[in-house]
Amino acid sequence: MNIRELLNQRVGEAMSAAGLPADCSPHIAPSKNPQFGDYQANGAMGAAKAVGRKPRDIAGEIVAALALDDIADKIEIAGPGFINIYLRPQWLAAQLQAQTSGELSQQAPSAQTIVVDYSSPNLAKEMHVGHLRSTIIGDSLVRVLEFLGHKVIRQNHVGDWGTQFGMLTAELEAQMGQNQAAELALKDLEVFYQQAKKHFDDDPAFADKARDYVVKLQSGDDKLLQLWQQFRDVSLRHGEELYQALNVTLEREHVKGESFYNDDLANVIKDLQAQGLAVEDQGAQVVFLQELADKEGKPSVLIVQKQGGGYLYATTDLAAIRHRVNDLNVDRVLYFIDARQSLHMKQVFTLARKAGFVSDAVSLEHHPFGTMMGEDGTPFKTRSGGTVKLADLVVEAEQRAAALIAEKNPDLSEAERAEVARKVGIGAVKYADLSKTRSNDYIFSWEAMLSFEGNTAPYLQYAYARIQSIFRKAGIEPDSLSGAPQLNTPEELALALKLLRFGEALEQVAKEAMPHVLCNYLYETAALLMKFYEACPILKHGVSEAERSSRLLLCAATAQVLNTGLELLGIETMDKM
Ligand code: ARG
Repeated sequence: MNIRELLNQRVGEAMSAAGLPADCSPHIAPSKNPQFGDYQANGAMGAAKAVGRKPRDIAGEIVAALALDDIADKIEIAGPGFINIYLRPQWLAAQLQAQTSGELSQQAPSAQTIVVDYSSPNLAKEMHVGHLRSTIIGDSLVRVLEFLGHKVIRQNHVGDWGTQFGMLTAELEAQMGQNQAAELALKDLEVFYQQAKKHFDDDPAFADKARDYVVKLQSGDDKLLQLWQQFRDVSLRHGEELYQALNVTLEREHVKGESFYNDDLANVIKDLQAQGLAVEDQGAQVVFLQELADKEGKPSVLIVQKQGGGYLYATTDLAAIRHRVNDLNVDRVLYFIDARQSLHMKQVFTLARKAGFVSDAVSLEHHPFGTMMGEDGTPFKTRSGGTVKLADLVVEAEQRAAALIAEKNPDLSEAERAEVARKVGIGAVKYADLSKTRSNDYIFSWEAMLSFEGNTAPYLQYAYARIQSIFRKAGIEPDSLSGAPQLNTPEELALALKLLRFGEALEQVAKEAMPHVLCNYLYETAALLMKFYEACPILKHGVSEAERSSRLLLCAATAQVLNTGLELLGIETMDKM
């Protein structure tokens, strides 16, 4: 249980002992300023309103009933009825000792089954920057939720079905007919796609064949399925290489693409028709959603089957919800998809609930994100105006980081430098994305993300490496330390209290699906570490043995939080950089 939960419980008990209504919340929040204690309970105001009495009197009654002697050494009432709680340094030290020896493991009070739908590229094309945000943000959420003890099911909802696969399989067949191995033909998916498109536009016979192949593929023709499998396999492998380079936990087993739902699409339509939700409109099957009507009262329209029988993106998403609810028994589904698909998600969620595919107990959440912008404020492009391929981005990140590291630390061996460059380069790209409020657009800047100052991956990685170098200089293994630190100075106290808030930060990330909360937390932690260094010498002559090991304990606890926190963001640390 983290401190906030503990206080919530204790103050909650005091409030009921004081006879306040059970639905009044204690409103526990960390204090903005140590002058007002470490935490505040601000629930007296709300409770006073509920019972029609003075907040300060209510606060007094809560404090009288509050049993916090083991935790706090001072409780005071301030202003209209704020209750300021000053935690005991010895208690904080013992908590920190427990946290450090428990490997930080956190258990959510109630473990849920959670599907996280992320990355999900269309397989026809090579992965590009447009896929980066979903991939990175989703992967961080997956890590945090698992760390908190939830059962997480990763789902890579790849676009591996649909009309363009007629053209692509026809092109693959043509190129393989010229003795090209599938591997080789698909070496560059962008080029291949352009070739197929050109072929389709220039050659009517090929275009007819492509159209014929869609139908054959969708009706389960063996030859077409085989070609399609080959295409899909090469494309997925290409994605997996990138996941690996980006330290993203997605693997083949997590792929559950659009094709997986093919067999249920006809049932979805039948169900919708039976309930009178889907109706015919110019040969198509359409749902009118009054719930999402515009200002003039015109319903929002969702096409679930095209004229001619083809199914759509929405149909597949409805089938996916059914699968997740019925077969996977989810409590929550998190979708990390571009903000431009917000209407689509709203329509799908509304219809899924209306059609009874999902009960109110299941939470369906679209967590949108903004666009990656270039430094000129328009969507991020290559110099020549093309789409930036993720593979190129990875190479550039490592190259830029290598140049930087060579300059900052020329003493590293070549092998060390390569490893550091990889971790710093990839870490910088990921952190730059994760540290911004997810829902906003953000500006992609190599210079800013690779800076060693400010809220960046290199800054945090450096803070971690610096602690390791202190241990090297001290000739002590962090694991060999034991006991609780002494928290004597304000800097030690502030750092310890921050470290103990790790779990609170994670809870918030899990709840709001906002990884920047964890980034901010880690950045503030690193800043408090630097302040602590300045104020509290460790290896200097004249520092007592007891003081030194106490401060080393704090360093070790900080290193653990930084390392685990970065790992939950999918970012690696190193001992030297
Ligand atoms: N393949 C889609 C695209 O590239 C994203 C899929 C997101 N997931 C979902 N369940 N709709 O736009």
